[in-house]
Amino acid sequence: MAYPEEILEEIKARLDIVEVVREYVRLERRGRNFVGLCPFHSEKTASFTVSPEKQIFYCFGCGVGGDIFTFIRKIDNLDFPEAVRRLADKAGVRLPQEKGSFYNEQQWSQRQRLYQMHALAAKFYSLVLRGPEGEKARNYIRTRGIGEEIAKKFQLGYAPETPQALIKYLKGEGFQTEEILLAGLAVEREGGIHDRFRNRLMFPIWDHRGRVIGFGGRVLDAGLPKYVNSPETLLFRKGYHLYALHLASEAIRQQGFALIVEGYMDAIAAHEAGIENAVATMGTAFTPQQAKELRRFTSEAVIAYDADAAGQAATLRGLSILQEAGVKVRVLELPEGLDPDDFLKCKGARAFNEMVAGASSLIAYRLEQAIKTYGLRHEHSLAKVVAEVVPDIARIENAVERDGYIRLISKRIALPEQSIYEEVKKYIHKKDKEVRIRHTIAESKHNFIAGPDVQETFLLSAYIHDPALAQMIEGSLGEDFWECPECKFVRDEIKKLRFEKPGLAGDVLINLLEKEIGVASGLAIIARLKIQSDARVLFTPEAVKEAINRVRARNLHRLIKTKEQELAQAEISGAGRNIKELQEEIFRLQQELRLVRSGKEGVNFERGTAAKAANC
Ligand code: GTP
Ligand code: MN
Repeated sequence: MAYPEEILEEIKARLDIVEVVREYVRLERRGRNFVGLCPFHSEKTASFTVSPEKQIFYCFGCGVGGDIFTFIRKIDNLDFPEAVRRLADKAGVRLPQEKGSFYNEQQWSQRQRLYQMHALAAKFYSLVLRGPEGEKARNYIRTRGIGEEIAKKFQLGYAPETPQALIKYLKGEGFQTEEILLAGLAVEREGGIHDRFRNRLMFPIWDHRGRVIGFGGRVLDAGLPKYVNSPETLLFRKGYHLYALHLASEAIRQQGFALIVEGYMDAIAAHEAGIENAVATMGTAFTPQQAKELRRFTSEAVIAYDADAAGQAATLRGLSILQEAGVKVRVLELPEGLDPDDFLKCKGARAFNEMVAGASSLIAYRLEQAIKTYGLRHEHSLAKVVAEVVPDIARIENAVERDGYIRLISKRIALPEQSIYEEVKKYIHKKDKEVRIRHTIAESKHNFIAGPDVQETFLLSAYIHDPALAQMIEGSLGEDFWECPECKFVRDEIKKLRFEKPGLAGDVLINLLEKEIGVASGLAIIARLKIQSDARVLFTPEAVKEAINRVRARNLHRLIKTKEQELAQAEISGAGRNIKELQEEIFRLQQELRLVRSGKEGVNFERGTAAKAANC
C-alpha cells in the first residue's frame, strides 16, 4: 500500500518536525538547529539534532536520523503506513483510506490539473498585459516605478475587462467549466459564469517551490475593493503562504534573514530596489504556517510593517508566533503613514537598509510599546510593563543573551535587575509545569492508540460472529467506544454490510468484508479475525460481558487520568470554581470504576438479545 509522493509531501509541508519532536524531546535552539537528549539511546549530553530548515533529525551519538516519518516510526514503533496515518491525522490531511487502496486518484489528478490551469492563467494574464488591451495596466506599472525586469520576474499580468476572457482561453486548452470554478478562477452568478478577475493588475501567488497556486488582482485606480484574491482552493489556503518566498529564498539564505512586509506592492518595490530577501504576508497577521514556511530558509526575520499596523495587537501576536516558531524577530519601525514601498520611493534603498540594520529586537520593541501604553510613573504601571516582556525573555534559551536583555530593561525603566529576573524565573517555572502536564496528556493518549487493543479485537470478533452480540456490545458501550482505528474501521464496514443484509455473520461476513475493502488493504486485523475464527474462539455471553467491562474500566480509568490532569492544571492556573467540581467528578468516576472492576456494574442485557446471546 504505497502512498503517493504528493500526499506524503503535503503532510510534510503542513507539519513542522521541531513541533512534532518537541512532544517527545525537550529541545533547545543551538544556532540554526535544535538539540536535545536523544530518545533512541541513553546519553547525558545532547547530541540529538533537529534541523528546521531541512526538516530532518540526526543523532550524532547513535547515528539514527531521518525525516518526520522516520521519527514517528521509530519513537512509536509503527510501520510506515501507521506513521503516515498518525501524521496525516495530525496535519489534517485526509487520507483517502476509505476503501481499498488508501489513495484517491481523483483528487490527486484534480490538483495536478489545477496547477496546470494556474500556470496557464498566469501565462494568459501576462500575454494580455503585453498586448493592446494591457496598455492601461502597463502605464500603471510604470507609474508605480516597477521596471521591465521585475515585472517579468514577478510574472505580472493583466486580467482584461471581457467577462469570459480567461474562461474561453482555458476551455480552449481543454479545461471544463467545473474545474475552472474549482480553481477559483471563475465565479458563478445568476446562472452564468464569468472570470473572477476583471480589469485588474494580476499578481500570481506561488508556493515555495514556485508553482502558481493563486492570484491577487489590484484595481488600476482608486476603486474598491482594492484587491481581489483567489478563494481557498485545493491549492491555495489563506495564511499558509508567503508571497514571493520562492523568489526570495536564495537571498534569504545568503543574507541569513528574511524581510517581511505586508503587501504585494511592498515586496515588489523591495525587489526593485535590490532588496531581494523580501516576502509579503498578503495582508493577514503572521500565522504559524507561514512561520514554518519561512523556517525552511532562515531563523531570522526583520518585519517591516507601516507604523500604524506594527503597533496593532494582531501584529504583536504575529510576532510572538514567529518567535515561538524559533524565528528571531526584529522590528523595523517606519515613519508614520509610510509603508516600505513609500519609504523606498521617497528615501531610497540606502536609507531603508540602514533602517533594517538598526531594527530593534522584538523585546526592545515590545518594551517601548508597553512604556507608551502604561507609562513608567507608578509601581503598577512598571509591573505591567515588565509583564509584557517577561514571556519573550523567558523564551530566550541562551542565558547570556537573556541576562543581556534583563540588563537592558533594568536600565531603561530603572528597576533592579533582580526584580525582573525573579519575574522571569516565576514565569518559566509556571510554563514548565504546564508543559509537563501537556506531555503526560499526550503520552497517555498516545499509549492508548499504540496498537490494536486486545479487548477491542475480541469484541470485534464477537461483533462479527453474531448480530445479537453486536447489539449487546453497542447497547452497553455505545457506538463511539472503538478507539483502535482498525477495529473502528472494520466495525463501520460491517455495519454497512449488515445494513443491506442484517443476518450476515461469521466467516461469510469476514470473506465479504475482505472483498469489500480489498485484500491488499494491509489491515493486519483481517488476518487476526480469520485466525480467531479458525480457532473457534467461544463467544459466550460471560466472556463478552467480561471484555465489555474491561473496556469500560479502561475508558473510566483514562477519563479519571484526564480529569486528574485537568485538576492539576486548574490548580496551577487557580481556577477555583473548577477545582471542586473536578474533585467531585473524579470521586464519582472512581466509585464507578470500582463497581465495574468488581463485575457488579456493567452490561445492560436487553431482553431477547441476552437470550439470543446465551444460545450461541
Ligand atoms: P498598494 O496600495 O497598491 O501600495 O498595495 P499594497 O500591496 O501596499 O496594499 P496594502 O498595504 O493596502 O495592503 C497589504 C496587503 O493586504 C495587500 O497586498 C493585499 O494582499 C491585502 N489587501 C489589501 N487590500 C485588500 C482588499 O481589499 N481585499 C483583499 N482580499 N486583500 C487586500
Ligand atoms: Mn502600498
